[in-house]
Amino acid sequence: MLIANISPRSMGKTTDTGMMGHAFHEAGYAVQLWDADESEHLKQWSDLAGFPFPVKCNATAKFAEEYTPLGEHGIDIVDVGHTENHPHIADSVLKVADLVLIHMEPSMADYQRVHQPRTSTPVKTMVGRSAFDRPSREAPPMWVLLNRVRPVVRSEGEIRNLLIDADYNVLTVKIPVLDEIKQATGFTVERASRGPFGELVTELQTRGLVKSV
Ligand SMILES: Nc1ncnc2c1ncn2[C@@H]1O[C@H](COP(=O)(O)OP(=O)(O)OP(=O)(O)O)[C@@H](O)[C@H]1O
Ligand SMILES: [Mg+2]
Repeated sequence: MLIANISPRSMGKTTDTGMMGHAFHEAGYAVQLWDADESEHLKQWSDLAGFPFPVKCNATAKFAEEYTPLGEHGIDIVDVGHTENHPHIADSVLKVADLVLIHMEPSMADYQRVHQPRTSTPVKTMVGRSAFDRPSREAPPMWVLLNRVRPVVRSEGEIRNLLIDADYNVLTVKIPVLDEIKQATGFTVERASRGPFGELVTELQTRGLVKSV
């Protein structure tokens, strides 16, 4: 299955994609990552750190036609470039994604950028309209993952409620703002499954959003 990690702009996607890849790998899944961002940050991280699974690049509007999935029991995860600047790549990924995760901080700035952007199409609209291009004629399930969450921040509850009121599904697990996560990019990742990314794998399994191994 293909998990698409998307956000309108820089919102922690590459970090979350690399860490999720390791957490799924440590949980026993066959994993393949896709870098669909022209910056190729994920690929560079993998080259520097030696990820124990493949990372392939395809930052094009042909992603849907060209990507080769691992198969039914594998987990493919794609780090999609900014939907604000590269909607054609996101539209292509959304044709074949089985699950969409929106990555954002629980801040009003990120909420507005996701839900009511001034100069781009909202992510939810992009996901909804992808139904027309999919064999099932149904949009993929879409969940919000709150990341870079500061301890005891009042806005977390407020943003969670705003999202839920606006009909978003919001994962219970959140990714805290942590120096060790900030500094993960570029380095070898160890024991990703012991922290919040392991909890994320468990929540995705429990909700039936990914199959258990
Ligand atoms: N949980 C975290 N705690 C602390 N810092 C984080 C965390 N997650 C990401 N960061 C930092 O936030 C910044 C943005 O993260 P990242 O590059 O993963 O976002 P992105 O959405 O891929 O951005 P872009 O769209 O520009 O590629 C980076 O400096 C990263 O180190
Ligand atoms: Mg990135």
